[in-house]
Amino acid sequence: MDNKNPNHVAIIMDGNGRWAQKRGLKRTKGHQKGAEALKKISEYVYDKNIKVLSVFAFSTENWKRDKEEIDYLMNLFLKAFKENFEVVKKKGVKVIFSGVKDKLSNKVIAAMEKMTEETKDNEKGIFNICLNYGGQDEIINATKKISLDIKEGNINIKDITPSLFNKYLFNDLPPIDLLIRTSGECRISNFMLWQMAYAEFYFTDVLWPDFDEKEMDKAIESYIKRDRRFGGVEK
Ligand code: FPP
Repeated sequence: MDNKNPNHVAIIMDGNGRWAQKRGLKRTKGHQKGAEALKKISEYVYDKNIKVLSVFAFSTENWKRDKEEIDYLMNLFLKAFKENFEVVKKKGVKVIFSGVKDKLSNKVIAAMEKMTEETKDNEKGIFNICLNYGGQDEIINATKKISLDIKEGNINIKDITPSLFNKYLFNDLPPIDLLIRTSGECRISNFMLWQMAYAEFYFTDVLWPDFDEKEMDKAIESYIKRDRRFGGVEK
């Protein structure tokens, strides 16, 4: 059964704020619980034959939130990068980041670079943390880099294929097989647009802090039952 499991799973971890509000707590408490949920899920997936886990930690639109919440999230990232992913690193997973550096503090950038450096030779799996990330930004950024390479004569226009384009993205990742979004929202919110071309979508009402190993199994079960035709016909 496990070899039918998705190779690349992407998660929009939504509902932290509502989880807290439902309990009369501050939104930040929901993010803290959300970080704990991510720790558990990241320790679980690589033993399920899943090779790549991508998560939406902070979007380029999230800067619109209150300063208090943004500061809390940035400190939470720092703490999590220092403490939460030790097990994942020990499992031999490579940690990478997708997104842009601008507006991020030097401390956060340094913590990201440390994680990347420490895990760069790991081969068991990939943990792609999308931080200060936008899907359209990623495609525009890749297009600019390709244009420059054409201008400088490094490639020809006729050489541009999906797999070449993929190499110009923030990271050269395999396509997403399964996208999970928690909290009942049915949108993709500018997340990994290119990589999601043929992804199966799984939406659940469960709020992210409550998403655990059992919920992950349910998502995988649902994926396994799908009939993926990639534009072809049923045989
Ligand atoms: C969306 O819930 C969640 C976020 C914008 C932040 C995601 C961050 C975490 C799960 C923390 C841990 C991450 C790492 C990488 C350590 P929301 O605040 O939009 O919830 P709401 O829709 O209920 O308001």
